[in-house]
Amino acid sequence: GSLYTSHYGMKMTAPASPIPERTLVLVGMMGAGKTVIGRQLAARLGLPFVDSDAEIEAAAGMTIAQFFERYGEPAFREGEQRVLARLLAGPRCVLSTGGGAFINEETRALIKAGAVSVWIKADLETLVRRTEHRDDRPLLLGGDLRQRLADLLAQREPVYAQADMVLISDDRPLDDTVEQLLEALRDTMKQVRV
Ligand code: S3P
Repeated sequence: GSLYTSHYGMKMTAPASPIPERTLVLVGMMGAGKTVIGRQLAARLGLPFVDSDAEIEAAAGMTIAQFFERYGEPAFREGEQRVLARLLAGPRCVLSTGGGAFINEETRALIKAGAVSVWIKADLETLVRRTEHRDDRPLLLGGDLRQRLADLLAQREPVYAQADMVLISDDRPLDDTVEQLLEALRDTMKQVRV
């Protein structure tokens, strides 16, 4: 909370405005900014930040790219679902997910049932710009990056739209983006109290 001076002249910390008391799960495309926004959001809320891809890598003892190469995408989705179930059952946090997590029906049901989901939405140009210099995303390797992203976006947007909230991720300063989400979360609480 922010500092203010009480009428006795004491420095007090104002209680932070309430936001939903559940884990906040960020969903959306590769390159949308889930991790960067999630870290900042967690810092603002004083909650731990958890990245499901990093948890999968730790559990499997290999990178996502290695996992895809050795076991294939269906096995990855199963592992992803298990890891997310574990994280959602754990302490409240800000949880950023891999772009395909919310697309998987079972994983989506887990998220919808146990958390507040936020679609981090970015347009195609933004996604291209943020992914083009990286080689750690197996689904984007080989072929034309823009076309791959466009195809995935077309398939996935209707599903991401099932998230509880949507936040536009564009070229605004990160602070502004995160502040807008915090405002929206506080509004949610106002609606809940009515
Ligand atoms: C994937 C997104 C990746 C990672 C994997 C598959 C996807 O996570 O889980 O490469 O299907 O969109 P990011 O969204 O964090 O890049």
